[in-house]
Order: sequence, then C-alpha cells, then structure tokens
Amino acid sequence: MKDIIIDTPAQKSVIHCGEGAFEKYAPGLALRQVFVVTDSNVFAWYRHDIWRVLGGDVPIYIIPAGEPSKSIRYLTAILREMLSHGMKRTCTVVAFGGGVVGDLAGLAASLFMRGVRLVQIPTTLLAQVDSSVGGKTAIDFEGVKNVIGTFYQPEEVIVDPRFLSTLPDREIRCGLGEIVKYGALNSRIYELLLQNKADLKSTAFLEEITYHCIKHKADVVTEDEYDLNGVRKTLNLGHTTGHALELCYRKKSHGEYVLIGAYYELYIAEKLNICGKNYADSLRELITAVIKKVPVYEDVATAAKLAKFDKKNTDANVSLIVPQSEGKSAEIKLSLEEYIKLLEECSADLKEGK
Ligand code: NAD
Ligand code: GLY
Repeated sequence: MKDIIIDTPAQKSVIHCGEGAFEKYAPGLALRQVFVVTDSNVFAWYRHDIWRVLGGDVPIYIIPAGEPSKSIRYLTAILREMLSHGMKRTCTVVAFGGGVVGDLAGLAASLFMRGVRLVQIPTTLLAQVDSSVGGKTAIDFEGVKNVIGTFYQPEEVIVDPRFLSTLPDREIRCGLGEIVKYGALNSRIYELLLQNKADLKSTAFLEEITYHCIKHKADVVTEDEYDLNGVRKTLNLGHTTGHALELCYRKKSHGEYVLIGAYYELYIAEKLNICGKNYADSLRELITAVIKKVPVYEDVATAAKLAKFDKKNTDANVSLIVPQSEGKSAEIKLSLEEYIKLLEECSADLKEGK
C-alpha cells in the first residue's frame, strides 16, 4: 500500500492506494459525524461493508445509478438530507461510488455550510485513476456537462482495488479509457500499457497502473490546481470530442466516449501533421485494444456543435488537447467548420475500414 500526497495551499489531500486500503483507513471515519453518498448499484453490492465499518445507523443518501443523477435535483436532495440529519460544519461527506457519486457528493460537500470535510472512496476504475483525485466537483446542467462545479480537494481518498472485482467488464473498459489517456501524456504509463497490451484487465496490472496514473494526476494538480496555467488542461485529452459525443448520444459511458474522442482527435492531430504516423499507429493500436470497434457517426456535426460549450474554449474556436509524441500533447484551436470537416473525414474513413 502506498500514499500519494497533493499538498495545495488550501488542503492537503492524502491518497491511500492499494489492496487493504479500505479496511485500514475507512474505520477511522466512524469516529466522526459522517454522511454517506452512494448509488443504487454500489449500495446493493457494498451496503454490508458500509454498515460494518460506519455503523448501521449511518445516514446514507442513495442516488439512482447513472449520469442523469449528476443533476441539480440530486444536489439539492443531498443538501436537504444533510440538513435534516443535523449535519454540522465539522461533519464529513463520504463519497462512496464511481465518478458520478464523487462529483455530486464533492459538490455538496463544498457547498454545505460553505464547505465540510470530504473523503472519496472510489469504487470504479475510472474514479480510482481519475475523478476521485484532484478536487474537481460538478453537476451537468441544461444539457451541458460539468458546467456547475467547484474545486474542492478531498481530505482523503481511499483507493482499494477490491471494489473492482464486482465492476462490469464495460466499466473496466471505461477506466482503461482514462488510463490510455494518461498513456498519451506520460511515457512511463505508455510503456507499461504497451508491455501489458495483451492483458490490460489483469488485477496486478490494474493495481500498478492505477498508482502511476494517480501519481501523474497528483503532480499535475500540484502544479496547476485551478486549471489556470495550461498544465491541468492536458488531462482533457480526448475529452472535447468525448464530452460532445457523450452529450449527443448518451449510449456509452464517459470513459468509452473519452477513448472514442481520443481516437477522433488523434486522427485530427495526424491529419494536421502535429503527430507522426508511427506514434499515431501505436496509440491507435492501444485504443483499439480497449474499444474493439470505434463507432462511425453519420451525423457527427450535431455532436460537434456541442463542443462549443467546452470550458477550454476561450474564443469562437474549439480547443482540443491532442497527442503529439510520446509523453507530449499539444493544444490546438479549430474553427467549428474545420473541426466538423475533420471529424466527418475520420468517420468516413472508419466507415470504409481505413
Ligand atoms: P459511474 O459513477 O456512473 O459508475 C459507473 C457504473 O458502475 C454505475 O452504474 C455504478 O453504479 C457502477 N458501479 C460503481 N462502482 C461499482 C462497483 N464497485 N461494482 C459494481 N458496480 C459499480 O461512472 P464513472 O465512470 O465511475 O464516472 C463517470 C463520471 O465521472 C462522469 O460524470 C464524469 O464526468 C466524471 N469524471 C470526473 C472527473 C473529475 O476530475 N472530477 C474526471 C473524470 C470523470
Ligand atoms: N479530469 C480532468 C481534471 O481533473 O482536470
């Protein structure tokens, strides 16, 4: 078991990673006034662990599983329940679940009485490698993803691979989507991915790679906690197109859309000579090792228009973080017309099996 620390001026965030982290660190929470937020699936699998560790009468708010719960409706419901359970300024919100629970409960913790303590216990691979770490909280609003939120560091993150044993295969793929994203940003992670390409889902590999991804994110967040100087923005590789497709189609999960977004954006980078062919081929192979068939979008323009809402955009153009070379990314800005044209070309090539 290893600890990673993010030491920012506002809050020191300690991330405990490894098998046994839950049994070692969660019981300490029983000594505090806690309010647990979880979702219906996680509650079904792990309610006995919650009760065993935090007591049978711990207040719990259970949201319906899935992205639609990342909404103002459930945010206010959680705040209302916290108030009615007499939560004090000294209480701790425990976000026990995937990224949806983490983003929503994190936002509630940052708002209740102007901010109470927050502990994240991520139970999906995606939440373990990415969303539980770094303090971004959010809900979706008026059809725009993550448009209301705060930066609010969890005091503690308990990352235990034991929770991955009940994750559907598809959710493992989602987490691998974010892991491949890290691979495009960090040479060591890239190397590990290439070495383990044949068995990316093995338990030992996932535990090792999770540590490296969190370490990468922790370093980035330490350098640019509030996403101001361009360093943290790199974590958005694949996300401009991924978020747009996610909002438009809502058929797959976040991590799958990130990976599909990365595929389309890699195509753009190669077309614009930002990324060389050899590296593009090798990265493409990694992407398709996780998501066997990248979808063709007949009407990609409708989704592309949603990229106009991306928070990275500072003018009328669409901003993308694209792979450049091993461990290196670049930000590019395209007019909406250019962006749509390149996405359409990628979709047409995919359709022809190119
Ligand atoms: P999720 O929270 O919806 O979880 C995916 C599914 O897995 C759900 O059905 C959930 O009930 C189920 N589940 C969770 N843990 C389980 C377990 N141990 N066993 C069985 N089933 C389990 O989705 P996610 O992929 O974890 O997170 C996606 C969200 O994270 C998106 O809203 C995205 O915007 C957000 N996100 C935030 C950040 C950030 O920095 N804050 C980064 C990346 C993604
Ligand atoms: N997932 C992107 C970030 O935390 O900045």
